[in-house]
Amino acid sequence: MSDSLLALLRWYADMGVDLAVGEEPRDYLAHAGPQAAPVVAPASVVPTSPTAPIPPRQAASAPSIENLARDAARAAAAAATLDELRAELERFEGCGLKTTATQLVFGDGRAGAQVMFVGEAPGADEDRQGVPFVGRAGRLLNRMLAAIGLAREDVYISNIVPWRPPGNRTPSSLETAACLPFTRRQIELVGPQALICLGAPSAQTLLGIKEGITRARGRWLSYQNGDATIRAMAMLHPAYLLRQPAQKALAWRDLRLLARELERLRAEQPAGE
Ligand code: URA
Repeated sequence: MSDSLLALLRWYADMGVDLAVGEEPRDYLAHAGPQAAPVVAPASVVPTSPTAPIPPRQAASAPSIENLARDAARAAAAAATLDELRAELERFEGCGLKTTATQLVFGDGRAGAQVMFVGEAPGADEDRQGVPFVGRAGRLLNRMLAAIGLAREDVYISNIVPWRPPGNRTPSSLETAACLPFTRRQIELVGPQALICLGAPSAQTLLGIKEGITRARGRWLSYQNGDATIRAMAMLHPAYLLRQPAQKALAWRDLRLLARELERLRAEQPAGE
């Protein structure tokens, strides 16, 4: 490789470019789904002369949020276990993020965990390893759990969308809506007593929070989980705490609230469960 090419690649890396998505721009929001018509014209109408004008590409008709959510709800409802839900997600073609991600990042933990954390979306490390919260933010989350006596194995951890958005952007409302039935079903199948939403996108999506996360955090709310109503709270995202370490005091306050609530829930439980 020539020195100038190497220098260019190094410059891209320094600028934070960590993903090559193709030579031509592509509208990932217009991801067509499994039944959509092919976007390439049939061979018989493709001009053979190199000078003939290239016909405009036929746009794929973008599925509506309602259709995506309906397909997703049907697939998610068909899953009776977390393994089946993972398999349904592997088959699901209704979220454009799948096309740019390396792999699915399904939730991590066991069904029946007392508390479930839901973050925003996998980052580069998670995309590479296929496990949520394994990068810097994940290591901080592990330390936060340890501070209230919880091991990673004690909790269930997932995200609002299970594929990494290109360049770590916030997932769009279409992407979030397409994945939401899977997220909700995952919470149902885990069956936690408490749900913690890490960061604004998770809190807005699952708890309907409209105000900023710094105002909404640290307050117990309710989440309707199938037939059960469970305790739910928004907390600051560990990635935000890495950028704003002074806010760790607020996170510590929320962690203490969580520890107290888990203790109370345990005490309420009939002996032997
Ligand atoms: N941030 C998230 O929201 N989720 C992850 O899995 C990693 C970082």
